[in-house]
Amino acid sequence: MPRFVQAAALFVTVYVGATSADLLGVNIPDLLSSLAPAAANDPRFTNFHPPGTGDVRSPCPGLNALANHGFIHHDGKNMTIPHLLEGLAAGMNIGADFTTAIGAAGLLSSPNPLGGSFDLNDLDMHNFPIEHDASLSRQDAYFGNDYSFYDPNWQQVLSAYKGKTKTDIPTAAKAKYNRVNDSMTRNPEFTYGLREFILSYGETALYLQTMGSATSNGVANLNYIRELFEKERLPYDLGWRVSPTPITLTSLGQQILALYASGPQPVPEGAKVTADSYKDIFEVIVGGSEILANLTGGLSTAVGL
Ligand code: HEM
Ligand SMILES: [Mg+2]
Repeated sequence: MPRFVQAAALFVTVYVGATSADLLGVNIPDLLSSLAPAAANDPRFTNFHPPGTGDVRSPCPGLNALANHGFIHHDGKNMTIPHLLEGLAAGMNIGADFTTAIGAAGLLSSPNPLGGSFDLNDLDMHNFPIEHDASLSRQDAYFGNDYSFYDPNWQQVLSAYKGKTKTDIPTAAKAKYNRVNDSMTRNPEFTYGLREFILSYGETALYLQTMGSATSNGVANLNYIRELFEKERLPYDLGWRVSPTPITLTSLGQQILALYASGPQPVPEGAKVTADSYKDIFEVIVGGSEILANLTGGLSTAVGL
């Protein structure tokens, strides 16, 4: 059975049957209040180990980098939402709302979403729940491997930043649009609707904010971003430090709106982009807020989703 169908069947089961204790077995208020970025001298920031034999990685440079530094399991396996909440907060100051929303979507890519965890290599599932065409640094699934770093596509992104050492919002938007146009031209199975449109703006917002800060308004050192994508490494040795302000669905949603407003990519027909679009798209992906609550053992409600 295709994983998509399996996931769909399983989330119906989740909707009907699960309780928070089944899925998490943790005290939600205690967990949420314990989340914090790691201290600047935390050894994990400098302990970088690429994947070894048996370790798995994903189409996501952010998760891969966090695994390479041991903020999340280095083998890339058994990613539960509580584990991701802690690791993403420690390594990148990612807020619980974003991790819960995208983590729930990630669970749907697992062969067993009811098990409450996924492995990083599950995330390469194409077109649902998260992976999409026109990635910044990966090939479209049509051409084969949609999960490993692919330099020719990344060079199209960098070409927009030619001559610059820092990012800015209009150039980041242009860099992303370069990739969309390339895929649209070459991939006869190119798929790009509202889900892909919002998710991919979100990914640009993620690199801008994690490598800059939630309040930097799109300014980050390009060499930090290159380190993240090209080596899947946190650029601590280059001077990067974790954002002092949490990166949340709200901060990312606002960044998406600013990127979109700066052009030049037209919005899919009939769609309206707002600061809530990011939050909304995750609810659509998982099938509604009640399913989101069930999938996350009530965490989504606790973080205001
Ligand atoms: C549980 C949390 C997360 C999950 C499940 C997740 C999942 C994914 C997936 C499946 C993709 C592939 C989308 C595509 O086709 O391009 C992706 C891309 C991406 N993710 Fe994540 N992600 C998470 C957290 C993060 C974080 C914390 C960052 C911070 C840097 C991040 C940055 C990115 C970026 C920049 C891309 C775009 C890669 C590209 O276009 O080549 N993600 N993520
Ligand atoms: Mg992709």
